[in-house]
Amino acid sequence: MLRYAAMMMIAGLLMVSVLPGTANAENDIEGLMKTIAGGKGGAHKVLKKLLATPETDWEKVSAETKKYAEATGKLGATKPEKGDSKSWEKLCKEFDAAAKELNAAATKKDKKAADTAYGKLSESCEVCHEAHR
Ligand code: HEC
Repeated sequence: MLRYAAMMMIAGLLMVSVLPGTANAENDIEGLMKTIAGGKGGAHKVLKKLLATPETDWEKVSAETKKYAEATGKLGATKPEKGDSKSWEKLCKEFDAAAKELNAAATKKDKKAADTAYGKLSESCEVCHEAHR
């Protein structure tokens, strides 16, 4: 009986934690991560190609960096299932700052600044995944 009650409680908790995510899937962590780095169309991958191409197409780069920074801007409002919230807040802030730096570099068409900011973004993936994924 006790086990049944415990199971129902866990099921209830799961539903509560899943519902807001399904209501707004684009803005949960998984949805934002897909925008940032998912599949072929994820901003991080697209930018890697764009920044490696000589004669930078700044219009295309800007479109991606804008999408990128919008998504990282929303990440801080989410709560990860794993890891503590202080760490999450800090990592989200740093991630967002680097994405904004990249977006600003694209606006200024500053390739060196763009490469630096992109490098910071690339280094942040593993750190955060290790702690919170
Ligand atoms: C601030 C923390 C953080 C940073 C930085 C971060 N990620 Fe993530 N990422 C996560 C978390 C948490 C998940 C798990 C999301 C889930 O499935 O609920 C995730 C999931 C993913 C996924 C799987 C998405 C899916 O389809 O389920 C990919 C791909 C990914 N991240 C790529 C990257 C790449 C590439 C970078 C660096 C450019 C990066 N992430 C940076 C936190 C982060």
